[in-house]
Amino acid sequence: MTATAAADDTAGLPAYPGKRTGRCPFDPPTAYTGWRQGEGLQRVRTSHGKAAWVATRFDDAKVVLSDARFSADVRRFPQLTVSVQSAQGPQPFPRTDDPEHARIRRQFTGEFTVKRMEALRPAVRELIDGILDEMIGREERPVDLIQHFALPVPSLVISLLLGVPYEDHAFFQEHSAVLTRSFATREEKTAASGALNDYMLKLAHRKQREPGDDLVSRVLGVGELSPEEVAVNGKVLLLAGHETTANMIGLSVTALLENPEQAARIRNSDDPRLTAGAIDELLRYLSIPQDLIHRVATEDLTLGGQHVSAGDLVTVSLPAANRDDRFADADVLDLDRRLPPGGHLAFGHGIHQCLGQSLARVELQEALTLLLRRLPGLLLAVPMAEVKFRHEMAAFGVHELPVTW
Ligand code: HEM
Repeated sequence: MTATAAADDTAGLPAYPGKRTGRCPFDPPTAYTGWRQGEGLQRVRTSHGKAAWVATRFDDAKVVLSDARFSADVRRFPQLTVSVQSAQGPQPFPRTDDPEHARIRRQFTGEFTVKRMEALRPAVRELIDGILDEMIGREERPVDLIQHFALPVPSLVISLLLGVPYEDHAFFQEHSAVLTRSFATREEKTAASGALNDYMLKLAHRKQREPGDDLVSRVLGVGELSPEEVAVNGKVLLLAGHETTANMIGLSVTALLENPEQAARIRNSDDPRLTAGAIDELLRYLSIPQDLIHRVATEDLTLGGQHVSAGDLVTVSLPAANRDDRFADADVLDLDRRLPPGGHLAFGHGIHQCLGQSLARVELQEALTLLLRRLPGLLLAVPMAEVKFRHEMAAFGVHELPVTW
């Protein structure tokens, strides 16, 4: 099939992302399975009203994520602009291509190694314990687990990593919460984004004068990046790690409350390998980044047997690709699963593969284990049918999760 639909030609195209209203809310939208088993590459209308291709097969997804003919540079391709992101001014490295992308990303990779994240684990555990103390100490029931647990965890962890002083936590959390809140207006998000930009720049200047034992000080100390570049990319670290991790915690708890025998495996296990494997299976099964990948084809090419024109928007459905037939019984949540070589794609693939994945794994392991151990009687306080899912958002999850114990 040849398709060269103009960017605004969206009439009759299926809305993307679709709603997860099939067998259960953890499965990708039913239509995606048909797309994956059919042509593989599907024309859709994105949540920003643009026409795009979506790759649904594992192998096609890997090509889009790793082939240099797909660009993520918002300045070369303003059609990549989503939300309050702007194509003006210096761009954070996830919105650039190599070699510029590599030049900046290189400055941050040493901060996110497995070794460094393991060293951070005790501090992460202590923070999570403190958040749980506060949640458990609340008098009201039910408690919204998103507000009082899932969101504060990545917020406090990233503050610790970046070196945000404790007295600024309230300001920092308030504005980052607006940016990651589903129902905030565009104006509110623009204002919050501006406030965080200003804050990050002031923080970078302060760390330049008075360096501490934190990421911002160390990256500035190397001397390759200006305070402006550190600020713009520091803000991206804050945002990239926030919404994904918070939704992953919230949706994992929802799935585990629906599958108590699987929750018990995490609660009762003293084997860190089992917990690590369980987290990867939850990442694959839930695949929360459902509308996070945005690329443009830089030349005419063929993908999955179809013609893609230069300038076409191309996205990847991680939920569809992670249920590809290469995973045995792909629709089953099996915390003992051994992933095939090449693993899953929940953290992406290629040059833009998630920089914070080791941190996310530590946060998820500690958050789920501590929550399930400290609250063995944790229950959903409303019927599952009343839980509001984030169907329309870039990261899938739940808007609220009323729980009791
Ligand atoms: C990139 C998922 C947590 C920082 C990505 C990408 C995915 C992803 C799919 C690839 C995007 C693309 O190709 O366009 C997730 C999930 C997380 C998580 C599922 C949690 C469960 C984090 C954390 C941080 C982080 C905790 C840092 C604090 C980043 C950055 C990039 C990225 C900086 C861009 C990398 C680049 O362009 O080179 N993430 N992420 N993420 N992630 Fe994560």
